[in-house]
Amino acid sequence: MRAVQSGYMHWAKYKPPVRYDLSSSDAPHFRMDSLPVSLADLELDGASHPRYLPLREAIAARYGVSADQVVTADGTSMANFVAMATLISPGDEVVIEHPAYELLLNAASFLGAEIKRFERNPADAFRLDPTMVERAMSERTRLIVITNLHNPSSALAGEQDLRAVGKLAAAVGARVLVDEVYLDSAVPPQPSAVHLGDVFVCTSSLTKVYGLSGLRCGWILAEPGLAERMWRLNDLFAVNQAHQAERLACIAFDQIDEVIGNTPELLARNRQRWNDFVDSREDIECMPAAYGITAFPRWSGGDSQRLDDLLRNQFDAGVVPGCWFEMPDHFRVGFGLAHDDFGEALIRLGAALDALK
Ligand SMILES: Cc1ncc(COP(=O)(O)O)c(C=O)c1O
Repeated sequence: MRAVQSGYMHWAKYKPPVRYDLSSSDAPHFRMDSLPVSLADLELDGASHPRYLPLREAIAARYGVSADQVVTADGTSMANFVAMATLISPGDEVVIEHPAYELLLNAASFLGAEIKRFERNPADAFRLDPTMVERAMSERTRLIVITNLHNPSSALAGEQDLRAVGKLAAAVGARVLVDEVYLDSAVPPQPSAVHLGDVFVCTSSLTKVYGLSGLRCGWILAEPGLAERMWRLNDLFAVNQAHQAERLACIAFDQIDEVIGNTPELLARNRQRWNDFVDSREDIECMPAAYGITAFPRWSGGDSQRLDDLLRNQFDAGVVPGCWFEMPDHFRVGFGLAHDDFGEALIRLGAALDALK
């Protein structure tokens, strides 16, 4: 049956709120009122601004592409949807990683794709393995979908593996959609896969690493001909974006170092604390966190839904149960809490794990 909603997104929005929330994959929220913005900067001047050039130029400059390779959209979410809707016709074969961010699966299903899966194996540190991709593909494959960094594990796909997947796609006339919403939290910084050739279509936003989720500033990077098709299709969906949000996004790009602030240091400290936590426990297994905002440990206790239930009911804390990533005996934690809160959240996670032994 074709998907017509996202169970995961509904859960993410409406789950019981908790103080020590390890389920978020956002960096700390950035306060726009710390930037010199006046209402006059946001004046709408009555006009609509199709394909607002200053924002496309700001994104293009940051990612080393030309403005005609940039399509803007409401968050990576809409960027993924517009990209897929442009690249998938009903009945097309689409190959998607497992475990996967559920919205990628459901968007492809909604568009009528015939979905095939390939494994990112936990025993291989969730590596993007081109042989696994090749096994899942056929001559009918039109699109391969991956996340880099991988959500949920944060595994980084190496350039060689990306190139190999690009070659497989090109051989059958397919494209590779790379959701790069976490890529800017890689250490050292990694270039977008868009630089590896026209076969790659990449999406991202100011949401995760930049703490500006509410701005909904997302984008697609693609070769100009494909970008043009995406803009045309978007005329059926959103026509233009909220112009004040586009203006605010330009201001954020102007001050991007300030927006990023101490997020890299915070994430590094939290990852270290997480690695110490994992080392101290026998009931969870997890590859060392070296970059990224999330980790995806395996829990020897089985279905992690009961871990999240206990955390929310008794510890004012929570994780993402692994069922949302089709691996119930894993769970996802995020590193974006303030350092002291993160430490407290881990103490509570440890207590809940002990209680379930
Ligand atoms: C892989 C992935 N893509 C996209 C999104 C959504 O990003 P945005 O807030 O930019 O729409 C998320 C959010 O969790 C995500 O994990």
